[in-house]
Amino acid sequence: MKRNLLPARLDLAQSVTGLVLAVFMAFHLVFDSSILLGANAFRFVSGALEGELIFGQKIPLITTLFAGVIFAIFIAHAGLAMRKFPQNAAQYRAFRSHMKEMRHGDTSLWWLQIWTGFAMFFLASVHLYIMMTQPDTIGPAGSSYRIVFEWKWPLYLLLTIAVVLHAAVGLYRLALKWGWFEGKDPNRRRKTLKKAVWIVSAVYLAMSLAALGAFVHIGLTGQDHFGNQVEVVPR
Ligand code: HEM
Repeated sequence: MKRNLLPARLDLAQSVTGLVLAVFMAFHLVFDSSILLGANAFRFVSGALEGELIFGQKIPLITTLFAGVIFAIFIAHAGLAMRKFPQNAAQYRAFRSHMKEMRHGDTSLWWLQIWTGFAMFFLASVHLYIMMTQPDTIGPAGSSYRIVFEWKWPLYLLLTIAVVLHAAVGLYRLALKWGWFEGKDPNRRRKTLKKAVWIVSAVYLAMSLAALGAFVHIGLTGQDHFGNQVEVVPR
């Protein structure tokens, strides 16, 4: 009998796209948080990512193309994940009662991942579309203006929480699924892995929320928290 390899291939594709997005986010949130080192640090980092160090000037098209590639991977990952969503009310109810009965931590984590993933369908799409179409606005002044006066702070607040939780649970489950840290005592390994993932996520969450606060501060006061003036004006 011929084996059907499609489900295994789709699973692998989901793991690989998820891992690529998680690695991207690990760098993205650090670059974003350069605002904590002041407006000039963020200006330098965002300029460097737009080719300033190589071409002597910013090339916004680089951001448009790169954001397009990330968007495509994000859509592929979300599409593959839809296979795992409960498909009707009966499946939904069955899973909920199963979860309550079992009170199994990892099953509840899966539920958290489904909901944070669902929220990101909308939240991340808005963000990615803006990054693709308005790359020239990225910078301490433009980003702060967007966050405060174009009301992006509630979107970023929710997106930050959703993406960090989603990536944390995703990486933990990926490590278990592909047996990355297996050893003599799998139960102990699992607990250590869980702890490590939660600690790293808490650090990322604190850093990113502080960065969001720094953008809001610049938007409202016209200066960063070191007192450097930033001209936050409508574009
Ligand atoms: C190549 C694609 C991307 C680019 C160029 C980009 C760029 C940026 C920039 C410049 C900011 C600072 C605020 C602003 O200017 O609006 C930001 C913030 C943020 N981005 Fe992205 N982004 C990309 C993809 C993503 C993706 C895929 C996600 C999540 C699924 C994401 C999540 C966030 C979050 C949560 C914040 C706010 C962080 C905070 O709390 O300080 N970004 N992004």
